[in-house]
Amino acid sequence: MNLQELIAQLPKAELHMHIEGSLEPELMLQLANRNGIALPYQSVEEIKQAYQFSNLQDFLDIYYQGAGVLVKEQDFYDLTMAYVKKCHQDNVVHTEIFFDPQTHTERNISFETVINGITRALADGETKFGITSHVIMCFLRHLSEEQALKTLEMSLPFKQLIKGVGLDSSELGHPPEKFQRVFAEAINAGYEAVAHAGEEGDPSYIWGALDLLSVSRVDHGVRSIEDPKLVDRLVKEQIPLTVCPLSNLKLKVFNDLKDHCLKKLLDKGVVVTINSDDPAYFGGYVSQNYLETAEALELQAEDIKLIAKNSFKASFISDDLKLKWYEAIDNIN
Ligand code: ADE
Ligand code: ZN
Repeated sequence: MNLQELIAQLPKAELHMHIEGSLEPELMLQLANRNGIALPYQSVEEIKQAYQFSNLQDFLDIYYQGAGVLVKEQDFYDLTMAYVKKCHQDNVVHTEIFFDPQTHTERNISFETVINGITRALADGETKFGITSHVIMCFLRHLSEEQALKTLEMSLPFKQLIKGVGLDSSELGHPPEKFQRVFAEAINAGYEAVAHAGEEGDPSYIWGALDLLSVSRVDHGVRSIEDPKLVDRLVKEQIPLTVCPLSNLKLKVFNDLKDHCLKKLLDKGVVVTINSDDPAYFGGYVSQNYLETAEALELQAEDIKLIAKNSFKASFISDDLKLKWYEAIDNIN
């Protein structure tokens, strides 16, 4: 079996995917038309041309503009259903997706509209394809903690639909300590906690996510490679990293996929997973991320199986289900 076939056959979980980042240009244009929203692009080609980024902020500016076409519950449903179909194609059997409530509530779209559209599609995805899922709401770190606290409060009536909280958007200048109170309150309310850290920010952002926000896994976390003590801690406590190789390449965290630290972290014993982050913007869904990474870093079949196992280990599914997926992976030769 070649690498591509192995990757296709392996059941996988995706743990780092922003639903707004799965908005493909075709659907963006369609929703802009449907909702009478003006975009600075006339065609799919023009949209794709605009996707040239030098850093995270370049991307975020375009990503928030794109999300502006999402207005009605059906828009969030259509967006999520399109992603679920990609999961089915890629043999992603479990997904834990992020959404950014503030991107929408700031435009006077209700929290209820957003969460109902997303979770209705995920429920249909489970019925149709057997794909299980959780939803994680992210606070935008460029906004204030007070606004995050308001968002947390807004989420409470929908708590049974939301597994955890996360932290995303512009990392530099917005360290974890800014959100210490809101994370403590979220954990107290029964939410799981994760956070983006060490994507562009130095290792202190990862230490902060662990010590001040009490996260149980770290999104990106690739700059941990610069701090051996931090790597030791990630290994000792088996704190997973949700790594997104094609995102890191597009946002110039690494200039070449061959320079990516994923294999080094894996070899040191870190629970590394592979994810797509914002697949419509970064050129690939989960399997494409596995494939390009495997080729660039010369991963072996055993590495790829370990990464697929890690994706379940790092997820918020039950231990029984984890065992079921480990066994399914072991049975692929
Ligand atoms: N929002 C969507 N994608 C993101 C990323 N890679 N980093 C921070 N915030 C994001
Ligand atoms: Zn992300």
